[in-house]
Amino acid sequence: MRMYDLIMKKRNGGVLSEEEIRTLIDRYTKGEIPDYQMSAFCMAVYFQGMTDEETAVLTDAMACSGDRMDLSEIPGVKADKHSTGGVGDKTTLIVAPIVAACGCHVAKMSGRGLGHTGGTIDKMESIPGIQTSLTREAFIRVVKEAGLAVTGQSGNMTPADKKLYALRDVTATVESIPLIASSVMSKKLAAGSDCILLDVKTGSGAFMKTVEESAALAEKMVAIGTHNGRRTAALITNMDVPLGNQIGNSLEVEEAVQVLSQKGPQDLTEVCLALAAEMLFLAGKGGREECLVLARNAITSGEALERLAAMVRCQGGDETYIRHPEKFGRAPFFMEVRAASAGYITGMNTEGIGISAMMLGAGRETKESPIDYQAGMILKKKTGDRVAAGEVIGELFTSQEERLEKAGRHFLESVTIASAMPEKEKLIYARVTEAGIEYL
Ligand code: URA
Repeated sequence: MRMYDLIMKKRNGGVLSEEEIRTLIDRYTKGEIPDYQMSAFCMAVYFQGMTDEETAVLTDAMACSGDRMDLSEIPGVKADKHSTGGVGDKTTLIVAPIVAACGCHVAKMSGRGLGHTGGTIDKMESIPGIQTSLTREAFIRVVKEAGLAVTGQSGNMTPADKKLYALRDVTATVESIPLIASSVMSKKLAAGSDCILLDVKTGSGAFMKTVEESAALAEKMVAIGTHNGRRTAALITNMDVPLGNQIGNSLEVEEAVQVLSQKGPQDLTEVCLALAAEMLFLAGKGGREECLVLARNAITSGEALERLAAMVRCQGGDETYIRHPEKFGRAPFFMEVRAASAGYITGMNTEGIGISAMMLGAGRETKESPIDYQAGMILKKKTGDRVAAGEVIGELFTSQEERLEKAGRHFLESVTIASAMPEKEKLIYARVTEAGIEYL
């Protein structure tokens, strides 16, 4: 079987056989197919798509390309979550402790930032001392002790996805439903949890820009999870505006602590409670309303914050940063961005805001770029807010002064101000389960 023929078959809209897909992934993982041919194949998939059968086989081939996590030593139901990526998305650091506080173990593997979106592992690494590449034994020990653990993808887990993900990032082939679905679900299947909740982001800061596209992606991922015997559901959540008010690594850990201390912004708190309740529901902890009450109580009792501190401690981190987040401090260089005119903020190009945070040093411009953990921004105004001319709409922070001006300009260009008040957008658009899509 020649790679050239497979590329041509897909380019012409053909359907690949199971054998062809499995051979393709196997040979790519072994380094027998060069990146230039795989890039051409991804572009063919981007334009021609894949059938459900092709996507299911691709997912399984990627999940089987390396080690798989065996969580059987951990008692009870194990739950996992995955976000398709956004700006200001620190939900894992809030949702996983809430779910753990409610007695359900969370064994989570997370990634680093991709493009304009932040990654949980980068955020966690702003906490001094924390280990994010745990061995299997350490991972299981932390889950048992703290109720939750978050680690980077272990050395040889889904190597096919690792290679493909990095390739797609630089070949404009990220935004493809079969490629995203197989990438996300291969990792989730290999990670071994019984329940999988998917947070499918939609809007200007997400890879999927419309609710329809996000629903199609969610349906595909839920079908793959369910077919593989995992209780799987998805919520489609708003990424047309950054989530919460703080963007950047230590700034986001700080905001996660605020939510768990009942002092967080309303949008972030509401989305996290909904995600946590859905995870608890999947794990069989009660009806949906009951699970929402459990999630709220985990915050008000302080137990969820204790779970986060325990996870940080068990992973070798300095938990005093969770108890006193002011210890993170602020980057030395600071700039206020002011509204150019009076009116309402009618829109935020959330991808633009994410890129502006990246320009400050919060994300990587290339895979090798170092991260400035204190870099980022605090949003003082968001979509729907009224502003006066000259009023501060955002505060930017960085350790490299020369980055401020360009990032500030990009930030301002990403915010639209007009005279008419915009309609309030939903935070959660839909729930997708085995039974179908339920618009909320
Ligand atoms: N997240 C993933 O894990 N994979 C993708 O392809 C996109 C988002």
